[in-house]
Amino acid sequence: MSIQTFPNAEEAAARAAVIILERAKEAIAKNGTFSIALTGGSSPKRLYEILASPESREFVDWSLVHFFMSDERFVPVDDERSNFKQANDLLLSKISADHNKIHRVLTTLESAEAAADAYEQDLLSFFVASRNEAKQLDVVLLGLGSDGHTASLFPGNDALSETERFVVASEPGELPPPVQRVTFTFPLINQAKTVLGIIAGEDKAGPVRVLSDDLKFDSNKALSPAGRVRSKDGELFWLVDEAAAQNIKK
Ligand code: 6PG
Repeated sequence: MSIQTFPNAEEAAARAAVIILERAKEAIAKNGTFSIALTGGSSPKRLYEILASPESREFVDWSLVHFFMSDERFVPVDDERSNFKQANDLLLSKISADHNKIHRVLTTLESAEAAADAYEQDLLSFFVASRNEAKQLDVVLLGLGSDGHTASLFPGNDALSETERFVVASEPGELPPPVQRVTFTFPLINQAKTVLGIIAGEDKAGPVRVLSDDLKFDSNKALSPAGRVRSKDGELFWLVDEAAAQNIKK
C-alpha cells in the first residue's frame, strides 16, 4: 500500500503500463486468462495509448483478456462522456481484444439501477465460468477526483457504505458530468489482486494530501472515499505525478 511519485504524468503512465503488462503475463501463464477493470477520467488516457502500442502487444495476447469498467456514466455508449467510449477509442479498438470478453455496462437499460444489477450478474457469471471462487479481478484501475472520489464513489454517497453488493448505481457528485453512475463498490475493489490508481495534475494536490493521510489510519476513519481503498490480500499502488504529489513532499 503506497503512494509512488514520478517526475511527470508520462512516467507514471509508463510505470502503470509495466505493472499491468507484468500482471497480465503472469496471470496468462498461470491461468490462461487475465482480467482488468478500466476506468474513466483524463488520467488513464496516456496509459491506454501505451497499452495499445505495438510493443505492448508483444507482451500480452489481448484476446485472452477480460475487460470490465470500474465505473461508468449512465449515458449512451457513443456519448463523449462515456467511460467505455474513451477506453474503446484509445485501447480496445486498437488491440486484438475478443469482443466476447469485453464487459460493458448496459446503459441502454431503463435505469442505472437496472444496469448495475445486470453488470453485477455479468461479473458473477464471469467468476463462476472462470472458477474464480475468491471473486478477484486481477487488476482494478482507478482515478482520484478533486473531491477525493474514486470510481463513482462520491463523498456522502450511499454507495460508500455498501458491504454486500459488487456493483451499484450512484448519484452524481458535485463534479461534472452531472449524470447517474454505475460503480464498483469497495467490497469488489478491495479484493482485487492488484488495485492501481493513477493520478496526475496540480488540481489533485489537495486530495492526494488527504489520501496520503488516510492511508496512515484505519480505512473506516478515512476522510476521502479514495482513502477507503485498501487491498485485502493483494497489492495497492497509487501512482502520482510530481504536480499532484507536491503537498505530500517532506
Ligand atoms: C469518472 C471516473 C472518475 C475519475 C476521476 C479522476 O467517471 O469520472 O472514473 O472516478 O477517475 O474523476 O478523473 P480525472 O482523471 O479526469 O481527473
